[in-house]
Amino acid sequence: MYPDHVAIIMDGNGRWAKNKGLPRLAGHKAGVERLKEIVEATINCNVSFLTLYAFSSENWNRPKLEINDLMNLLETFLNKEAKKFLKENIRLRVIGRRDRLNRRIIDKIKELEINSDKNDGLNLIIALDYGGREDIRSAIINIYNDFIRKNKAIERLTLEEIENNLMTKGIPNPDLIIRTSGEYRISNFLLWQSAYSEYEFVSCNWPDFNTSIYIEVLKNFENRDRRYGQINEY
Ligand code: IPE
Ligand code: IPE
Ligand code: MG
Repeated sequence: MYPDHVAIIMDGNGRWAKNKGLPRLAGHKAGVERLKEIVEATINCNVSFLTLYAFSSENWNRPKLEINDLMNLLETFLNKEAKKFLKENIRLRVIGRRDRLNRRIIDKIKELEINSDKNDGLNLIIALDYGGREDIRSAIINIYNDFIRKNKAIERLTLEEIENNLMTKGIPNPDLIIRTSGEYRISNFLLWQSAYSEYEFVSCNWPDFNTSIYIEVLKNFENRDRRYGQINEY
């Protein structure tokens, strides 16, 4: 069976561009094209949830110019793809902090989330200004306030309540996390949610990732033996 929820750390745009003697922006542009292709392939493979790591909490530490380029690309993407989301029955959700994004992007995200809310095709989740630690921190704040209000003892806190206060509330945990560009790390992606995810690290940079590599990775997943701490019957 293909995974129900695939999450992708789209990494290596900068190196792809550098290898070609191009500015980093060219890598990010090529990355957006890949993203569109992979969304289509995900729909065709009947995978229900696709989460894409587009901008991390720590990516704000990059040069201002690159951040501007990335935000402009994002805005163009959201504006251009809006109709497609509706036509292709995609339900969009954005996870991450909203307060550091520009007003136009925040409004566009809200609009797209509302307009696609009734769609029941692919659930596309974009992680934007997302950090796993920030996700957990904000859950703790919500839970704390809720418990104080209800005068509830903190010892009664359940794992389920934690899950329900994460930014991914209602979204199943990722079955498979793919990272491109040959880096073997999680870079503050879905920390809590990835407790039992399978990983696939692909050596090519994100702009070189394509449908056939993707399908191969999805097929490999079928051979994974997920034991969740138990033992196999024999
Ligand atoms: C991924 O590519 C895109 C973002 C993090 C926004 P990078 O920009 O990280 O590319 P490399 O890792 O520097 O090659
Ligand atoms: C992770 O890539 C974030 C995204 C793909 C959006 P980075 O390029 O920011 O990660 P590090 O800095 O190499 O760990
Ligand atoms: Mg990178």
